Amino acid sequence: MDFQANLSPVFFEDQSLSTWNFWIHDRKLNRLFILVDENTYTHCLPIVKQVTSSEITIHEIIVPAGETSKSLEFANYIWKQLIALNATRSDCLVNLGGGMITDLGGFAASLYKRGMRFVHFPTTLLAQVDASIGGKTGVDFEYIKNMLGTWSQPDAIFIYSDFLNTLDERQIKNGWAEMLKHALISSSNYWQEVKQFDLKNISHFIRRSVEIKMDVVSQDPFENNLRKVLNFGHTVGHALEAFFMKKSPDMVCHGEAIAAGMICEALIATRCCGLPMDVYYEIENVLDEIYVRLSFSETAIPEILEYMMQDKKNNQSEIRMALIASIGKALPEVPVKKDLIAHSLQMYLKG
Ligand SMILES: NC(=O)c1ccc[n+]([C@@H]2O[C@H](COP(=O)([O-])OP(=O)(O)OC[C@H]3O[C@@H](n4cnc5c(N)ncnc54)[C@H](O)[C@@H]3O)[C@@H](O)[C@H]2O)c1
Repeated sequence: MDFQANLSPVFFEDQSLSTWNFWIHDRKLNRLFILVDENTYTHCLPIVKQVTSSEITIHEIIVPAGETSKSLEFANYIWKQLIALNATRSDCLVNLGGGMITDLGGFAASLYKRGMRFVHFPTTLLAQVDASIGGKTGVDFEYIKNMLGTWSQPDAIFIYSDFLNTLDERQIKNGWAEMLKHALISSSNYWQEVKQFDLKNISHFIRRSVEIKMDVVSQDPFENNLRKVLNFGHTVGHALEAFFMKKSPDMVCHGEAIAAGMICEALIATRCCGLPMDVYYEIENVLDEIYVRLSFSETAIPEILEYMMQDKKNNQSEIRMALIASIGKALPEVPVKKDLIAHSLQMYLKG
């Protein structure tokens, strides 16, 4: 076990698989409910089955792959399956998948009989470095990202980077966006490293990103203040994600939207927090080398701004967002005029 704080223990790499059966045995579990999507059913479930003691009965719960399954409809489906199998609070739901599965499974488990035991086996880079860490669960509702959710820590998180062998390049870049964000909000040294991210050193990068997220979350688990820095790039990013989700589900993935959000929010930071212009250009260049710019029309900007207004903290003319004053120094909540956000989106479109 490597990290504890007041958060879930995280087990890494071989230790993760070797601990697994001890962990099950310690809790006297004789059956497991494993939540997968169609892809993790094919690529990841066989690995988990192979390392799980043959004495354990495994019940599979399968949902379609993609963000549209992160919904009340599929939470409902999971609850029905659990009820049909007489699952109790002390049974364990194993969330084996990317951030869609860890968010959805965490949400369903945290409400089932007022909270059943659950663990995460994150299988995408994004879920290993970010979504599985920190105890936020949720589903999307009415095209609004994470509109319904709970704070609920898994009993443990098992990170095994071999799961990533079956991810395509797009999914690796998807996770890389959150790692770049971790660097931008906390460490210029990590920024220098992670902008040259290399799959050969994947374990090192995963650990470093998990450390950064755990450090922030352990100081402010319920996002009263400091934890908001993790939302850098997400105010604009989530709005873009919701906008594209409505047009065509899964057209834009989370990390791509967050990368676009970071470009816009870094530009805003040059006006609101004194981020030097040359630093903005560096961030823009790094992100442009990795991600293709999202394409939307200028006339869509009012609709994109509307998605940002859903947050209760915002008023009609201002939106509060996490910004950076320099690389490694984030400010949790800065009021930003809507006009300035619209301008950042216009500049983003100009490329
Ligand atoms: N709770 C949090 O703190 C938090 C933080 C960041 C993001 N998120 C959420 O995470 C979600 C995005 O997560 P994601 O990008 O992992 O998406 P995802 O779970 O939809 O996975 C992306 C794709 O990869 C496939 N896949 C997963 N593991 C695979 C494997 N090992 N091999 C082959 N294919 C595999 C999935 O089936 C899916 O098609 C969003 O809903 C976002 O809001 C949550």
